[in-house]
Amino acid sequence: MKVTDYDTPRPETHRTGTTYILGIESSCDDTSAAVLRNGILLSNVTASQAVHEAYGGVVPELASRAHQQNIVPVVDAALRQAGIQREQLSAIAFTRGPGLMGSLLVGVSFAKGLAASLGIPMIDVNHLHGHILAHFIHTEDDDYVSPSFPFLCLLVSGGNSQIVLVKSYRDMEIIGQTIDDAAGEAIDKCSKVMGLGYPGGPVIDKLARQGNPEAFTFAKPNIAGYDYSFSGLKTSFLYNLRQWISEDPDFIEHHKCDLAASLEHTVVDILMKKLRLAAKDLKIKQIALAGGVSANNGLRNAFRDHARRYKWDIFIPRFSYTTDNAAMIAMTGYYKYLDHDFCPMSAPAYSRVAD
Ligand code: KG4
Repeated sequence: MKVTDYDTPRPETHRTGTTYILGIESSCDDTSAAVLRNGILLSNVTASQAVHEAYGGVVPELASRAHQQNIVPVVDAALRQAGIQREQLSAIAFTRGPGLMGSLLVGVSFAKGLAASLGIPMIDVNHLHGHILAHFIHTEDDDYVSPSFPFLCLLVSGGNSQIVLVKSYRDMEIIGQTIDDAAGEAIDKCSKVMGLGYPGGPVIDKLARQGNPEAFTFAKPNIAGYDYSFSGLKTSFLYNLRQWISEDPDFIEHHKCDLAASLEHTVVDILMKKLRLAAKDLKIKQIALAGGVSANNGLRNAFRDHARRYKWDIFIPRFSYTTDNAAMIAMTGYYKYLDHDFCPMSAPAYSRVAD
């Protein structure tokens, strides 16, 4: 039996002098594909999954089935929008983890199959590194200024809340993280309790713009160092709400905007307090924001306010790169490509970083 060794990267991928990287993202409920030419973004196509709305959260089994349906048309659209044939690709970068295992397996298996059929190398990407390196995505004619190293990145999503010291494209150190729930998860759960549907983040953001952030106070954590905790806030929100509803059954309807504004204000306060501490201790003034919750206007405004007060250079991602997308995976893959850092065909997906 002849075994073809796809684990060995092929030098002929440099044959044209132009590097085309296909990025594939499928860690949660967005199927996304993107193409870069010499590190410049040509296309970024994402299919989101509305199927989860009815369940108030992502249903893993439904997510992987939807990825199966979406992956071929999404990759096809990304290649077409980039104006290239798949045979021109130099390498395929894919999210290997962390994320939902069933979702990851669709993207990982697709990437393996395509790389094997084309005889090109694969590049495994840590989804969280992707969120951070989204700050280095550039299109042909944009004027976005990327941060310089070292910088601090507040990475806030539905599954993570971290402060990361970014020393280079490859060298990132988590100096603080949540010990329980993530910021996005807390917001989503509180909004679910208010009957606002899923995902709650964007709805809370919209309502908060018309509410009073000081109207209600909720519990804030008191833990050492740069770590976060959001489970106490979630519980405090739930218990307070129950009490208020027992006194006024229409409490939510009467105070929707104030509840959203006060919840958002508390989350932003918790996030910024630790970030301020880390920036001060490490004497770093280049501060970036990343992850799905970075779309939040209250958090963006707090960043702008801190830039003025503490003379920070802030880096707020463009809206299209805040939530899960393949452009950030392709970008991270591109830097690994330049280092010839490829992964073997046998590389499995991982659901958690420690796996
Ligand atoms: O990074 P992401 O797309 O997925 C992962 O968790 O990996 O983040 C999703 C999270 C959800 O919790 C969602 O509610 C939150 O980002 N989010 C927002 C906003 N837009 C999305 N949270 C607050 N305000 C927003 N505008």
